[in-house]
Amino acid sequence: MTEIASPPHCPANPLHAAFYADRASFHRVRIIENVGLARDTFRVRFKCQEIARQIVPGQFVMMRLAGLDDPLLGRPLALYDTVLDEQGAATAIDIVYLVLGKMTRRLAEYEPGEELEVWGPLGNGFPPVPTEHLIMVAGGIGQTPFLALGREYVGGRQYGAPPRGVPPAKRVTLCYGVRTADLLAGVPDFQAAGCDVRASSDDGTIGHHGLVTDLLQSVLDETQEEDRLVVCCGPEPMMEAAAEICARQNARCLVSLESPMACGIGICFSCVAKVRQPDGNWDWKRTCVEGPVFDADKIIWQ
Ligand SMILES: Cc1cc2nc3c(=O)[nH]c(=O)nc-3n(C[C@H](O)[C@H](O)[C@H](O)COP(=O)(O)OP(=O)(O)OC[C@H]3O[C@@H](n4cnc5c(N)ncnc54)[C@H](O)[C@@H]3O)c2cc1C
Ligand code: FES
Repeated sequence: MTEIASPPHCPANPLHAAFYADRASFHRVRIIENVGLARDTFRVRFKCQEIARQIVPGQFVMMRLAGLDDPLLGRPLALYDTVLDEQGAATAIDIVYLVLGKMTRRLAEYEPGEELEVWGPLGNGFPPVPTEHLIMVAGGIGQTPFLALGREYVGGRQYGAPPRGVPPAKRVTLCYGVRTADLLAGVPDFQAAGCDVRASSDDGTIGHHGLVTDLLQSVLDETQEEDRLVVCCGPEPMMEAAAEICARQNARCLVSLESPMACGIGICFSCVAKVRQPDGNWDWKRTCVEGPVFDADKIIWQ
């Protein structure tokens, strides 16, 4: 099993912390596009070659509105995708965000040319686990870390410097649940990437009328003969339920936690989650540097 362990760039030096945001850099960047994808959901694109060429699916950046002290703290936002130039080099980053509070409300009004402050890449991305069938389970705005991952497993794109080699899967499925149809964001991107998309909604306005975990259950039931890897991002009760289904079906499940963060680089401990240790006890782990991706069976859900 490919473990979620120290990032490969950590030198074998006893003085070097095992998890450390030491590949991250800070940049003042300019917005290229800021467009609506769905109700209250936008995609912001900014040029930043340094982060774009290094970042891998599952990693995130911290973002602030340049020159403003309110909000003071950066906000964590997952990589949606990188944008390539004519030579195929990653030069810009796409982030998809839901308008929720102070920062995202203001960001939605920003125009091309306005500036942001970003630091990254942060966190450990999804480990490059070989699998026949990648099943991505998203609730709410939890689809954002999965476009780049889906592209990688379909075999259409590589990420990281040097590019990390992810063996392509035979199939990539996205199970995507929203409250109501007009919140579904980015489905054409996933379809264009070659992912099989199955939607659900709480009110029945699109796809399966019910929970996204019902979709997961039916995909797992249909594919019992396959080697499957499930990745999950969204509200914690949804991820906990998905983890239980996967445990019953003997499918490995990784979750990407969306804990609120203050620094993003391992200093403030505002982002901790309870994680089971090999000796059977549990310990607090910082989602920003030791996550945000964890094996679901290691999480003690609160
Ligand atoms: C690793 C990671 C990746 C993320 N990726 C994305 C992404 O790609 N797109 C996206 O839209 N959001 C993402 N988020 C969530 C995003 O960072 C928060 O929603 C952020 O707080 C929004 O900032 P705001 O100033 O608009 O809202 P705030 O003013 O910060 O918050 C508004 C309300 O939401 C609550 N809140 C804040 N953060 C969270 C959270 N993580 N979970 C639950 N409640 C919270 C606050 O307590 C407050 O009540 C991610 C979070 C993490 C940790
Ligand atoms: S956000 Fe500060 S330690 Fe994780």
